[in-house]
Amino acid sequence: MKIRLFQEQDGVQLAQLFYDTVREINIRDYSLNQVKAWAPEDIYFRDWAKVCSQRFTYVADDEGAIAGFGELESSGHIDCFYCHKDYQRRGIGSKIYGAIEAKADELGLNRLYTEASITAKPFFLDKGFSVVREQQVERGGEIFINYAMEKFLKTAV
Ligand SMILES: CC(C)(COP(=O)(O)OP(=O)(O)OC[C@H]1O[C@@H](n2cnc3c(N)ncnc32)[C@H](O)[C@@H]1OP(=O)(O)O)[C@@H](O)C(=O)NCCC(=O)NCCS
Repeated sequence: MKIRLFQEQDGVQLAQLFYDTVREINIRDYSLNQVKAWAPEDIYFRDWAKVCSQRFTYVADDEGAIAGFGELESSGHIDCFYCHKDYQRRGIGSKIYGAIEAKADELGLNRLYTEASITAKPFFLDKGFSVVREQQVERGGEIFINYAMEKFLKTAV
């Protein structure tokens, strides 16, 4: 398992991974209507190649099969963070997060923040994030509960 930066040709796998994970993993915490709005039938509702190339997107590459990915924006915002439905709870998210935090250090960021799903909240707590607030957000006509979370990093002396 290698953690590396996103390459444009990964877009196809990421689109499918996102769809499968939301529909099969996040369904444990959200309704069918919610996951349908979150991961629409059109898996290219987002221009994966373009968006993922514009930020620091790390992928876990298992000999060509993408097992997970996480996106860091230069503001310290962690956007999409998903592991493949068949690679859950095997430490892959932790490896991707390690790459993100290392990049944040390199960029001199002192804070990482995200909006974590109910599903991902225990993961981010494990990484030292704290909950700023529980919030309700609208996506595709559905209301979702998620958690604004943040982590302060050591600042350079
Ligand atoms: C969040 C996610 C990326 C984490 O990836 P992962 O590879 O499964 O996580 P790891 O195996 O590295 O977990 C590290 C630690 O986080 C915590 N953790 C992760 N998933 C957990 C769960 N479902 N319940 C409780 N704790 C959990 C545990 O402390 C775990 O350590 P342990 O397995 O030794 O107990 C993955 O669960 C996922 O794809 N979730 C669905 C997509 C999603 O909601 N993404 C966020 C969108 S906002």
